[in-house]
Amino acid sequence: MSSVKFYTRFERFWHWTQAFLIISMLITGFEIHGTFALFGYEQAVDLHIIFAWSLIVLWIFAIFWHLTTGEWRQYCASCSSDILAMVKYYSFDIFLGGGHPHHKTRAEKLNPLQRMAYLALHLFIAPLLWISGWLYLFYSYWDVVGISGLSLGSVAMVHTAAAFLILTFLVAHLYLALTMSEKMADLKAMLTGYQEIDTDN
Ligand code: HEM
Repeated sequence: MSSVKFYTRFERFWHWTQAFLIISMLITGFEIHGTFALFGYEQAVDLHIIFAWSLIVLWIFAIFWHLTTGEWRQYCASCSSDILAMVKYYSFDIFLGGGHPHHKTRAEKLNPLQRMAYLALHLFIAPLLWISGWLYLFYSYWDVVGISGLSLGSVAMVHTAAAFLILTFLVAHLYLALTMSEKMADLKAMLTGYQEIDTDN
């Protein structure tokens, strides 16, 4: 075992700020939806919009960081070939006590299932939230840009469905992040930047 620098200061700042903003958007969003009452409708709307713009700014920096450092390759699903080994592990070996087929390295931080999950988050769930969120936000300009035929009800439904998808992602992410490594090593790595990795393999 050795301790390797995995996550830069920016990456950790991005991760935790994004976690805070997404959880806050879920809380305020579902209050707007009418699921519960916490801040009051008007304030929930104001907070939701402030968090949305903050998330946009954070994402602009994160996209720039991923492109300039080459770290976007971490999400490239076809760059790793052991997907079948992962499926076999989660279907059989995990119950029979077999070892995990993926060994983390600095160049390959994510296992193939994580790559696919993050790719789905970045390419499908996030755009769905942004596009429906912006349409919602700029409803009063729909006739100016010639899309007044669109129905607000459908936009709200797509936005809410995407909110459920990101909530599902969050639950799965928390479960895997807290159970996949021993003694919460993955959580500690995202806090300190240093990951304990098996150097015998
Ligand atoms: C993690 C991200 C997000 C989550 C979980 C989320 C969740 C929600 C939910 C559940 C609603 C209530 C929908 C309804 O019942 O009609 C809502 C409303 C809304 N969301 Fe989001 N949202 C997110 C991101 C965004 C983004 C990025 C934007 C803008 C770019 C945005 C703008 C809005 C607006 C304008 C409303 C309607 C507020 C009103 O009724 O006046 N949301 N959101």
